[in-house]
Amino acid sequence: MNGMKLMGIGENGTIIAQRARSQGKRNPFESTSFKEGNRLTLDLTYLFDAPGPGAIAREDFEALIPKAMDAHQLLKENKGDIFDKGIPMTGWQDMPVRITADHISEIIDAAQRLVSKIDAYVSLGIGGSYLGIEATIKALTHQYFNQLSREARGGAPEIYFLGQNMDPDYFRDTLDMLEGKTVGINVISKSGTTTETAIAFRIMRRLLEENWSEKARDLIMVTTDREKGALRKLAEQKGYTAFVVPDDIGGRFSVLSDVGLVGLAVAGIDIEEFVEGFKDMRERCMSDEFWSNPCLIHAVARHLAWQKGKKIEVVATNSAALYGVARWIEQLFPESEGHEGHGMWVSPSLYSEKLHANGQMVQEGERNVLETFLYLREHDNRIEIPADDEDLDGLNFLPQSDLDMNFVNRMVVEGPAYAHYKGGVPCIILEVPKRNAYNIGQIYYMMERSVAISGYLLGHNPFIQPGVEAYKKAMFALIGKPGFEGFRKEMEQETAKRTRVWV
Ligand code: PA5
Repeated sequence: MNGMKLMGIGENGTIIAQRARSQGKRNPFESTSFKEGNRLTLDLTYLFDAPGPGAIAREDFEALIPKAMDAHQLLKENKGDIFDKGIPMTGWQDMPVRITADHISEIIDAAQRLVSKIDAYVSLGIGGSYLGIEATIKALTHQYFNQLSREARGGAPEIYFLGQNMDPDYFRDTLDMLEGKTVGINVISKSGTTTETAIAFRIMRRLLEENWSEKARDLIMVTTDREKGALRKLAEQKGYTAFVVPDDIGGRFSVLSDVGLVGLAVAGIDIEEFVEGFKDMRERCMSDEFWSNPCLIHAVARHLAWQKGKKIEVVATNSAALYGVARWIEQLFPESEGHEGHGMWVSPSLYSEKLHANGQMVQEGERNVLETFLYLREHDNRIEIPADDEDLDGLNFLPQSDLDMNFVNRMVVEGPAYAHYKGGVPCIILEVPKRNAYNIGQIYYMMERSVAISGYLLGHNPFIQPGVEAYKKAMFALIGKPGFEGFRKEMEQETAKRTRVWV
């Protein structure tokens, strides 16, 4: 039998966009019409007065505005509980306007130099040193990127991630994908001591050096602290191309720094367009007029929901490409808000899939849920639904009315938003016009600023993560890292009391 042909199905819009990027065709992201066509919308239709317990009343919302305005002012002035080891961790707030054209060119040049030598790129890192890069690449590229030809990828190498878990099978399977290919790596770690990243780097560096000896140097990039740490020292000793994680920007706020930009440039994404999205959203989020400031509205809505007992935020999207962005949000908010018994648990969900799983809980379970939709309005592709002679499923009305899969997918947001609201779940709909770097940049800046405001509203520093450090310390002790012997003894006494049941 011959292989299937995609008869009557046009070219894939995502591949067209990837190819266009490699041909230097860019979105006119500086033009007013592009910007106007790509304004995000925050739809609060289903936020207020959902039936049942914990409803959000407009008066309560309005009562919180002065507190949010104070937080906004403090943040602008870099004041308040925002320090980590004496440094105000708000470097991200002006990053969009501080980043220079020269620096962007440096990043693009370094990325292109590497891309010209390699078949596959592996980004090594965890948390803020991983999620934003993967989320952005997935948002803007084909779902099966690595399986496409290089030409269809727009000239980009295959892209993989390691160091985000310590699963040996996952690691080994990824190595299989790299066999026989020229591989470039970028190890990203602000501290330079994160166990998962360090182990992944050791393994990859050894493999690269065994394969290409001296030449491996040209295949290794390092992104770490400007001066301190083991990775910086190694980069200097070995002469690796090195990038910087700024002192005043924490991991989860670092996607616009070298942490994110290098990987995005390797993937062929237009990082200037990405910066422009951050820049324009920054301008809006600097507004002192509450109802013109999306991050303030977003922060107040979430804070009030939390006060009203909404402890879980389902971040649902109708776009597989944006699911990674929902995962990035899952990190940004809980890692920042989870202090002193506070904060909302974020549950990223791809709809329709999850509507047939925890959708039941959202509709009828405990009324402790806020739902935020990341609603992609226009996908890269239009898929027609064919008419059928027998019409056994009764769906012929769709093609008869010229309604395609995109229409049905839009209702995957409209339908649940209405039903869940009626079931007592307040909803926020963030409408994203299209998949492009400008819009992803806008979302990131808005969320970063919203979570910063949330920190002020909750009354604690959103830029530190002692809880994450606690697990790192326990793991160092358990794996026997020198210097953690005392802590290990303490842990052993505790674990001796372990409760286990044979099953
Ligand atoms: O947001 C954060 O600060 C964390 O998620 C870090 O990015 C993560 O722990 C990785 O840290 P590092 O870059 O030091 O390896």
